Amino acid sequence: MYTEKVMDHFEHPRNVGEIENASGMGTVGNAKCGDIMRMYLDIDENQVIQDVKFKTFGCGAAVATSSMATELVKGKTVQEAMEITNQAVCEALDGLPPVKVHCSLLAEEAIHAALWDYANKNGIKIDGLKKPKSDIGEEEVEEEY
Ligand code: FES
Repeated sequence: MYTEKVMDHFEHPRNVGEIENASGMGTVGNAKCGDIMRMYLDIDENQVIQDVKFKTFGCGAAVATSSMATELVKGKTVQEAMEITNQAVCEALDGLPPVKVHCSLLAEEAIHAALWDYANKNGIKIDGLKKPKSDIGEEEVEEEY
């Protein structure tokens, strides 16, 4: 049902953790399945994403898609990161079962929520960026990954 890449990122997720004093942090949740994803971005003065970490409290596909999303945005400028859509994440994972596509959407939205936080803190406008509807702000995420 899952591709090898999905299984690999699920079993060995990249960039799990937190960044202290992150340039941007975003937390999104899917009200239907209850899954939550938090993304931290460390962005330098040239608007390049130097580091990225995530925590996901959710299904295997949510873990795999957030892991892949972190790999895709690392080293990109904030504007380039806007091109990392859920389709791009799905393609990089060689596809997801249709019922799991919403999990990849959560990954895209987590990036956008973190970029939104960064843009707001710095008074920057990122073309095409909107605050995701699934943004749940600072709400406490208690369980450890
Ligand atoms: Fe909800 Fe995967 S089932 S994010």
